[in-house]
Amino acid sequence: DKGTYPYYMLKEIDEQPNVMRRLSAKYLSQDGQTVLDPNLLKAMANADRIYLVGAGTSYHAGLVGKMQLERLTGIPTEVRVASEFAYDEPLLSEHPFFIFLSQSGETADSRQVLVNVNQQHYPSLTITNVANSTLSREATFTLLLDAGPEISVASTKAYTAQIALEAILAKAVGEHLNRAVARQFNLKQQLALVAQGMQMIVDEKAQIEKVAQDAFVNAQQAFYIGRGIDYTVSIEAALKLKEISYVHAEGFASGELKHGTIALIEAGTPVIGIITASRTASLTRSNLAETEARGAKTFVIARAGLSEAGDTFVIPDVDELLTPLLSVLPAQLLAYYTSLNKGLNVDLPRNLAKSVTVE
Ligand code: M6R
Repeated sequence: DKGTYPYYMLKEIDEQPNVMRRLSAKYLSQDGQTVLDPNLLKAMANADRIYLVGAGTSYHAGLVGKMQLERLTGIPTEVRVASEFAYDEPLLSEHPFFIFLSQSGETADSRQVLVNVNQQHYPSLTITNVANSTLSREATFTLLLDAGPEISVASTKAYTAQIALEAILAKAVGEHLNRAVARQFNLKQQLALVAQGMQMIVDEKAQIEKVAQDAFVNAQQAFYIGRGIDYTVSIEAALKLKEISYVHAEGFASGELKHGTIALIEAGTPVIGIITASRTASLTRSNLAETEARGAKTFVIARAGLSEAGDTFVIPDVDELLTPLLSVLPAQLLAYYTSLNKGLNVDLPRNLAKSVTVE
């Protein structure tokens, strides 16, 4: 039931602070210890490579998971689009471990990869929002997102739940491997900050609605740019805009702009820079300025510690491995208001189904 909300999407965006709190309460003890199946941790710690597999937004959550897993566990990690992996399996390492990311647990492309993985007797984990879903039943292990039903076709709270749970998993496996970096990662405290930060952003909806009205409702195209973890959020942010507002949007690695894509910039084209990674913040700012010099209308989503006067959305500081949990929210809301103000059916965009059960 969407209660007083006009669309499920807005309700689901607003639920994200609580989803963070629930995950933290379920998988982290009061004193911050991870509470996960020791057999799962053992199986992952024995792997020489982790493969994250997903489609659409779940694939994008995997891109963040790779960074978290590599940093906290030291195990090389690859992320693959399920539909590409299913029939062109890459050369696998000797002891691979597979993680399937799927809100619904029913995505046919991901399931096809799992069928192959099971034929080869490799261990696997499904991270899903739906208990007893196909991908959950067929994998060796399951972790539930407990995000509550996600009804809107555009995935929002499942993305942030996946990223938070990947972080918890990465910390637990890293601790199992006795890595100081994992032990020192105070995830309990960080997730509390994330929940607070999310609440702040959703409380400032009006500001985002105005930007949607001023620059996006009549836009033919729009671009998100960023580097590293911010690049991964850029492509998720662009998918949201395409999917429900039908604005042709793309996410670009900002350093690649001058290698071709900057040719797309026209007078008034909205370009949003996502700036949460400290090492590359100034580079992304220069790239944004380059688009502005070619007529783009630019906006910035920046982390407080890296923000400058005039930035459009400033999100609170959290650990760099968790910034997508906050930087994606203005983008979700921007897509929502653009769709709403164009008079579209936000929850049921054309040509799409909530879960894609055919290959
Ligand atoms: O249920 P899944 O997470 O496996 O679904 C994967 C994609 O179909 C899904 O994320 C899709 O891209 C969303 N509509 C994006 O908002």
